[in-house]
Amino acid sequence: MIDFEVIRQYNFPTTIRFGAGAVKELPAYLISNGLRHPLIVTDPTVVNLDFFKTIKNSLNSKSISVEVFHDIHKNPVKSDVLKGGDFYSKTKRDSIIGVGGGAAMDVARAIALRINHPRDLFDYDDLIGGDKYVTEEVPHFITIPTTSGTGSEVGRSAIIAEDESHKKRILFSPKLLAKIVFADPLLTMDLPAFITAATGMDALTHNMEAYIAKGFHPLCEGIALQGISLINESIADAVNTPDLQSRSKMMIASLMGAVAFQKGLGVVHSLAHPLSSMLDTHHGLANAINLPYGMRFNVDGFEDRFRNIARAMELKEESGEAVVDHLFELNKKIGLPIRLRDIKVKEEHIETLSDLAINDFCHPNNPKPVTRENFRQLYLEAL
Ligand SMILES: NC(=O)c1ccc[n+]([C@@H]2O[C@H](COP(=O)([O-])OP(=O)(O)OC[C@H]3O[C@@H](n4cnc5c(N)ncnc54)[C@H](O)[C@@H]3O)[C@@H](O)[C@H]2O)c1
Ligand SMILES: [Fe+2]
Repeated sequence: MIDFEVIRQYNFPTTIRFGAGAVKELPAYLISNGLRHPLIVTDPTVVNLDFFKTIKNSLNSKSISVEVFHDIHKNPVKSDVLKGGDFYSKTKRDSIIGVGGGAAMDVARAIALRINHPRDLFDYDDLIGGDKYVTEEVPHFITIPTTSGTGSEVGRSAIIAEDESHKKRILFSPKLLAKIVFADPLLTMDLPAFITAATGMDALTHNMEAYIAKGFHPLCEGIALQGISLINESIADAVNTPDLQSRSKMMIASLMGAVAFQKGLGVVHSLAHPLSSMLDTHHGLANAINLPYGMRFNVDGFEDRFRNIARAMELKEESGEAVVDHLFELNKKIGLPIRLRDIKVKEEHIETLSDLAINDFCHPNNPKPVTRENFRQLYLEAL
């Protein structure tokens, strides 16, 4: 048994305070950095949870003047960021704390970018070379994850959609890495089973896709294999009988997934993104359903990689086929569907989904090339 009551420090890729109760260190951290006027960015659900009120009270009791911005969409859009930026300036803040899942942390990061960078927000889109405009300092930025999924707490990018088209854009800069992460598994203790399952499968997808992605990056690959192992041993418990052990392992493994996917992602994320744009499907759920199908597509020619994944998962049979079977079983065990039709996808959606998937930015890093026809077949298989 690992003692998760102890708070540990990791300085990779930024300073991470990880352990039960780590968030209690926030007031002292702010004071020691001369920050008395933070803006907390969160979402409309988290703002009403008990732990959020406790965090806010702990700051108020130390004479730290807190303002909260929580007016954000489930899949965040540009106008959320603009509103938050205006609120930051109007209330004269000196720092930004993102508290929540990937959505809240992404908006917090995008607001941090917005403050000293007045161009149109999407001029900073990484896919059109926008990072070259990120030249100024950003406010002191802190992240506090409350889901174990995206790993956005250690990310350098924010995924923000266009208001009208819902097309997702990526804002990126190394300057957008949080100065410190307070990763406190106690904040995820009451995360509902469905969100635990869906966000956890997002984290598993990050680790698996990063491990097999194109390129030579043994650092990321080592982290990804260990992430796979931790999630595999803890996700069912975190969903069905949560305790500090399972919650802690999921939290650190989701953060590891985001470190690992610097190497790249692949076909599964490209299958998943169009489902969120078209049908507002939760990102993790979209990945969870597509994961076994996308992995089955990748086995042929990459058997050695899948043998290592099977080993990390401690499967009896060390093969790609066994990994794929295990993924189907895992989805069932944690109460997630294994078919797209269960999330209201219809055959008539598949042509548009395939058009969007082939234009997605993730699959160029997939270990083997993916054509539009491959996407169409994969959607049909999963239907
Ligand atoms: N920046 C990145 O690298 C990156 C990577 C992948 C995805 N994303 C983005 O992240 C978002 C998805 O993030 P997510 O999967 O964490 O989901 P989320 O942020 O949408 O959170 C899921 C739900 O859980 C609720 N919630 C959060 N913490 C809770 C808690 N402790 N207890 C109870 N409920 C809680 C939220 O209010 C929300 O309703 C998407 O917008 C996606 O585009 C970002
Ligand atoms: Fe993801």
